[in-house]
Amino acid sequence: MKAGIVGMGRYLPEKVLTNHDLEKMMDTTDEWIRTRTGIEERRIAADDINTSDMAFFAAQQAIENAAITPEEIDLILVATVTPDSPFPSVACRIQERLGAKKAAAMDISAACAGFMYGLVTAKQFIESGVYKYILVVGVEKLSKITDWTDRNTAVLFGDAAGAAIVGPVSENRGILAFELGADGTGGKHLYQDEYIIMNGREVFKFAVRQMGESCIHVLEKAGLKKEDVDFLIPHQANIRIMEASRQRLELPEEKMSKTVNKYGNTSAASIPVSLIEDLEAGRIKNDDIIVMVGFGGGLTWGAIAIRWGK
Ligand code: COA
Repeated sequence: MKAGIVGMGRYLPEKVLTNHDLEKMMDTTDEWIRTRTGIEERRIAADDINTSDMAFFAAQQAIENAAITPEEIDLILVATVTPDSPFPSVACRIQERLGAKKAAAMDISAACAGFMYGLVTAKQFIESGVYKYILVVGVEKLSKITDWTDRNTAVLFGDAAGAAIVGPVSENRGILAFELGADGTGGKHLYQDEYIIMNGREVFKFAVRQMGESCIHVLEKAGLKKEDVDFLIPHQANIRIMEASRQRLELPEEKMSKTVNKYGNTSAASIPVSLIEDLEAGRIKNDDIIVMVGFGGGLTWGAIAIRWGK
């Protein structure tokens, strides 16, 4: 049995915060942010919308899109580093609201690589025949752990949720190969004290190296070549980091997902939100080979090669 994505959903807060808005809040410029990161604007969740609200809205859409009922879900995995509270988990909070009565539920803490960790975990349960449908959500309300006086970090992040129903798909489709990894020695470069603290240059170097290597490893594991790749969905942290992965795979510009300009870095939500937008725009078709790759605080990383379709 092969595991693949059979439904998707997303939630993006209405409030748009542009680079020009940030110019009025701190010593920065639209030009600096755009040229260094590719970001033009990001979404910020309202005060009364918490992480679990965003996760719930995205999950509802994914369940509807997969044409299943909440009662059919066996497991809920929520990748987030900004839960409403350490416990109950966001997964348990949305289990109640969705009415997913038989589902086990837990959060995954792997920062921006969290959605990759979630998909790979779901794959194991499905392909071993233990579970049939697993809800995987990547969600962050990073605005609540952002130091709005620190221009080094405040310009980078945004709020969003993306959700996928992972379930059985036909034999030649679904997740073909994966790579997950971590390097705790680099934890000091990106962490939360009260707010996000980051050594941008160190994270940049790590990300360029690791994203490129993970893309190559996952293709090797799947028995595929660079030429076989139809589309790349890199974690949307910084256009320069994304471009480095695209060049490593020798793909033309139009074969890489790009939402960083509109949403900034939404951590665990960035890959699923981008995937949905590419599907809706018709950039991804059935049987396309897609590589998704993420990296984040921990340090963590993860990549997946998937043949699209049910
Ligand atoms: N506006 C204006 N200037 C800023 C600024 C801002 N928002 N943020 C930083 N600067 C300044 C710095 O203070 C520095 O000034 P100095 O030279 O006087 O000290 C200068 O810009 C250049 O900083 P530098 O670190 O060389 O810039 P950079 O080209 O490396 O870009 C990042 C900085 C953060 C965009 C880049 O390092 C990056 O993207 N790193 C990875 C971050 C990431 O992806 N994090 C999430 C991981 S999931």
